[in-house]
Amino acid sequence: MHHHKFNDFPQDFLWGAASAAYQVEGGWDADGKGPSVWDRFTKLPGKTFEGSNGDVAVDHYHRMEEDVALMAEMGLKAYRFSVSWPRIYPTGRGEVNEAGLAFYEKLIDTLLAHQIEPVLTLYHWDLPQALQDEYGGWEDRRIIADFERYCVTLYQRFAGKVKYWVSLNEQNYNLTNAYQLGTHPPAVQDRKRFFAANHIAFLANARVIKAFRQHVPGGLIGPSFAYSPAYPASCDPKDMLAYENAEEFTNLWWLDAYCFGRYPQAALAYLRENGEAPEILPGDLELLREGTPDYIGVNYYYTLTYTDNPLGGQTMQRINTTGKKGTTPPSGIPGLYKTAPNPHLETSNWDWAIDPTGMRIALRRLSSRYGLPLMITENGLGEFDKLAAGDKVHDDYRIDYLRSHVKACQEALQDGVELLGYCAWSFTDILSWLNGYQKRYGFVYVERDEQGGSLRRLKKDSFFWYQTVISSGGKTL
Ligand code: BG6
Repeated sequence: MHHHKFNDFPQDFLWGAASAAYQVEGGWDADGKGPSVWDRFTKLPGKTFEGSNGDVAVDHYHRMEEDVALMAEMGLKAYRFSVSWPRIYPTGRGEVNEAGLAFYEKLIDTLLAHQIEPVLTLYHWDLPQALQDEYGGWEDRRIIADFERYCVTLYQRFAGKVKYWVSLNEQNYNLTNAYQLGTHPPAVQDRKRFFAANHIAFLANARVIKAFRQHVPGGLIGPSFAYSPAYPASCDPKDMLAYENAEEFTNLWWLDAYCFGRYPQAALAYLRENGEAPEILPGDLELLREGTPDYIGVNYYYTLTYTDNPLGGQTMQRINTTGKKGTTPPSGIPGLYKTAPNPHLETSNWDWAIDPTGMRIALRRLSSRYGLPLMITENGLGEFDKLAAGDKVHDDYRIDYLRSHVKACQEALQDGVELLGYCAWSFTDILSWLNGYQKRYGFVYVERDEQGGSLRRLKKDSFFWYQTVISSGGKTL
């Protein structure tokens, strides 16, 4: 669609930025916090880029006020952060750790004092290690009650202060890494266990959404989904079918379960045929339907292009975690689909396709299929940034990326999408789970590398760019 003109962004549009506890906080054992699965996993040899971990991260736990002051200076309207479950319940359940709650309360109060809307993520992958040890974490239904108890603790404490909540962050990406690729804890490669763990996570997601309605009247909650819309490599019907397969298996499997309370039909039939389908007990689908979201959080980075993959064909491969461009191999599921390059798109140094139109497509597909409001809960460019003379960071490539994607939001709004806000990933530089500190996303440069550093905060060129976008309500785009 080509439009003659564009409307302004809505007055109350949430111009935001995001982070996650493990990637910024540090203070990994401060004030009674228990270990998470990432505290353990990153210490195993060879699991992360140059053995990087979040023990200190960018020390947000001890520099929270300085970071929020920078957000206020930028004019941010919303800040998405996650709560670390083992800070609240060091062993996943039992006695609540008041110091953990107090940290987030102070963060929320500081944000509100600066008129910054908190967007609270309940789970961004840092599962208490104790629950992994005791019953295998997401593979056991006992996690549903434990997760609900933890969430209700946060609801009771922060209802009235926090309106926007995210339930699970990128269940699809996290569990694909955890149970198919073996690159996130517990580092398993087993498709049956993958679908079983996902089913339990769907139930947990629905249960906490159901509980939310009781405890946070007037609030909005939904999962954040890593949506990489599928494209066919060509109009060959074989590629079209591969694209349909990929869209069902890599996207709709989660989105339909969250929003419709059912699994997509062809994918479910295929899993049943192959003995990989999850066990669905009486009452499960009813619970899914009782716990559908108020909105969908969309984490959008890139689109993926697919082609036919016969039985015995290409298997799943690990992604580029070094930033050496062109090192990502094709990846697929034999009998269903495999990835293909998209000759129309440039890529980042980590081989992620740069596709702002893909974001517009993503927003339109979701809005028209589910009829729910959407929020971009993550979007950004991970790149090598260089500290230049005078403590400057000239990240014009990031400005280009963000500008084109914010424009895609405006186009999607024009297309009728109800878009609540846009949270760029990320506010400060962060620890990128498998890529270390060299893959930077922030508006604020943090002086550190895999070995450590001064942790000084320096405003990049993109900081000033976004500041102007926000103050003009998007008119300077
Ligand atoms: C999402 C996550 O997968 O994308 C973030 O929710 C993550 O936590 C971001 O940092 C970018 O991914 P990566 O692997 O480049 O850090």
